[in-house]
Amino acid sequence: MKVTNLDERIHVLDGASNVMSVIKDIALSGLQEEAFYVLDIGDIVQKHQIWKEKLPRVNPYYAVKCNDNLVVIEVLAALGIGFDCASKTEINKVLSVGVDPSRIIFANPAKPASHIRHAAAVGVDVMTVDNESELHKIKKLHLDAKIVIRIRCDAEVAQCQLGMKFGCDPIYEAPNLLRLSRMLGLNVVGISFHVGSGCQDPPVFYRAIRHAKSLFDLATDLGFKPYLLDLGGGYPGNKGTNIDKIADVINKALDEYFNTDAVHVIAEPGRFYVASAFTLATNIHSKRSVRGEESSPTTITHNMYYINDGVYGSFNCLLYDHQHVTPIPLKKGYGKMIPSSIWGPTCDGLDQVAENILLHEMDLGDWIIFENMGAYTLPVASPFNGFPVPKVHIVAEESIWDKSAELLKLKKLIN
Ligand SMILES: Cc1ncc(COP(=O)(O)O)c(C=O)c1O
Repeated sequence: MKVTNLDERIHVLDGASNVMSVIKDIALSGLQEEAFYVLDIGDIVQKHQIWKEKLPRVNPYYAVKCNDNLVVIEVLAALGIGFDCASKTEINKVLSVGVDPSRIIFANPAKPASHIRHAAAVGVDVMTVDNESELHKIKKLHLDAKIVIRIRCDAEVAQCQLGMKFGCDPIYEAPNLLRLSRMLGLNVVGISFHVGSGCQDPPVFYRAIRHAKSLFDLATDLGFKPYLLDLGGGYPGNKGTNIDKIADVINKALDEYFNTDAVHVIAEPGRFYVASAFTLATNIHSKRSVRGEESSPTTITHNMYYINDGVYGSFNCLLYDHQHVTPIPLKKGYGKMIPSSIWGPTCDGLDQVAENILLHEMDLGDWIIFENMGAYTLPVASPFNGFPVPKVHIVAEESIWDKSAELLKLKKLIN
């Protein structure tokens, strides 16, 4: 593929090209200086196939906060997925692509009043709650709300723990919230949890589902008709990871505790759907070679490379999402490996992408690629110091692009 127009929003891949070849074509076109992303739609479609195969009972509601790229939302909407929104703006974004409000869960247990009013106005009724004051707020602002009580059940190991902020205790607090909801005349329809993002403790899902079952029973005793079980997020999405163990635990627990079609099971996967679909290409615009000490003043002991994206941009994920990134030089290197560090473009000393790694000598204008950059990167990135947030180029294999009628509809939207 010869790149002649960088404004093209979608590159349909023929059999001979792939994400890396598209990156090469764009990077080496002579037209590109800024960092850029390549988003592979096929990767998202494939993830959905894996989800359906591994967790057939669980309907995914994509967590928009993870990556709110409009094409991602359009593709997922076309695949029939629901959405987890955390705010009025996320709700509007999802509604703007034609998703029915019934396919949205407002999964933020602490919602500003105006956002609840907005949800009521646009027909988003299902929302999570983990405290009394939220119940009183909802009673005033959205009496038709379908309330899902979010309980706390933390993974022992997770990339980002969430339990310190959200989720009520399933034994001591949740029963009181159920009773208060009853007194206020509110409608509790289910139970949710989030075990922590990047969960590395599959059995936690079993514990959480068992708690949810006890609370379903109590809710039923109190006169509610609970039907919604929400398994939250936590599923890994990088290349080389899989959800097999988590899926085994979930499927077993569902068989044991919720072996009925009367309960609608959903989850809120974020990183699973998008992490591996985005690859970032960055350009070295400056370099500092640190020379040896007195004994050998000409020997380079360390190379410092400055690239055009950093922790104030895409690599905010190093700080906020505790991610680890692996730099892949686009050009094959030769010679000996030299201790190196990679830095972002801003004037802040904190702006470091890789601290001490071995790399072949690289030059100004060379490109460094980072895979698995789709989760919790772009929505948080800022243009601090005047360095723009990278643009996204979209690719799709011809077979995937042409296969589904829904995606063809999407094709019209993009072109
Ligand atoms: C309420 C809620 N649901 C879902 C997610 C998505 O989690 P993950 O990306 O781990 O799947 C998050 C992430 O913070 C969240 O806060």
